[in-house]
Amino acid sequence: MASSFVLKRFVVVSILAVMAMQLPLINSVLSLNQTNAYLHHVCLNGEGTFKSGSIYEREVKGLIDHLSTYLDYGFANGAAGDGTDDIYAKFQCRADISTSNCRACLFTAFSRIRKQCPNNKGRIIWYDNCLLDISSIYTYGKIDYQHNFYLYNAKDVKSGTKSFNKNTRDLLSKLKENATSKKELPYRRDYLYAAGEESLGTMKLHAMVQCTKDLSAKNCSVCLDWIMAKLPKCCNDKQGGRVLTPSCNFRYELYPFVKT
Ligand SMILES: *[C@@H]1O[C@H](CO)[C@@H](O)[C@H](O)[C@H]1NC(C)=O
Ligand SMILES: *[C@@H]1O[C@H](CO)[C@@H](O)[C@H](O)[C@H]1NC(C)=O
Ligand SMILES: *[C@@H]1O[C@H](CO)[C@@H](O)[C@H](O)[C@H]1NC(C)=O
Repeated sequence: MASSFVLKRFVVVSILAVMAMQLPLINSVLSLNQTNAYLHHVCLNGEGTFKSGSIYEREVKGLIDHLSTYLDYGFANGAAGDGTDDIYAKFQCRADISTSNCRACLFTAFSRIRKQCPNNKGRIIWYDNCLLDISSIYTYGKIDYQHNFYLYNAKDVKSGTKSFNKNTRDLLSKLKENATSKKELPYRRDYLYAAGEESLGTMKLHAMVQCTKDLSAKNCSVCLDWIMAKLPKCCNDKQGGRVLTPSCNFRYELYPFVKT
């Protein structure tokens, strides 16, 4: 089940920025063994920097340690700082990930983002299993329209591409409805998450959608509509694909990739 994935950013970036970007092309082996591939990161240079060994750096570390003790529902967010130099962190695991793997993903993500963006106040990193978003700006509940990228399975669908693309759109739309109709259960692990499958002749399409739990159900729907509108550009005729942002993401494949 080895699939190579190609990473693309929607945002138009300068040649220099592309070169500075880590691994524009990622090849990862993905299977139900729940590998936890690194996907992408961004250093938010506009948010400024802090000094190594500073109190700020210690506080960020303290905040991450604090969040790691609140992962029973696969989501944690928190703030630190002294009011003039605020630190906000938001962490979301995919809903089918166990609490212990979720915690492990937080430490993996934090350790890597510290190396990638050692002194940035704002930094975001995506793995298969989790998203970590650290910022000096309060973004709780807001949809981040600035940072998004997509990955697609390098394999093309061989035939019936038009109906395959339509089926993909339809399944993702149904999952969006399911994910955003669980309004009454914000403390469930699968709040604002849905995974499902659909038979397409001899093949089976598997898909999932998820928003970070700070979003309202309405904004989750808005976010998913926004990234699903990118489907033609990212994934037409591809056997698998995903669009990711710090607020929501989706994925589909012709093989199972989440626990149900
Ligand atoms: C897990 O990985 C092993 C070795 O790569 C593979 O043989 C096996 O099929 C995988 N299991 C699942 C459920 O994908
Ligand atoms: C929905 O998202 C918008 C844009 O990010 C934000 O300004 C607004 O506060 C959010 N609404 C709710 C109810 O969270
Ligand atoms: C949406 O949820 C309903 C009720 O739980 C379920 O029957 C249906 O199969 C779900 N849809 C998808 C596409 O998973």
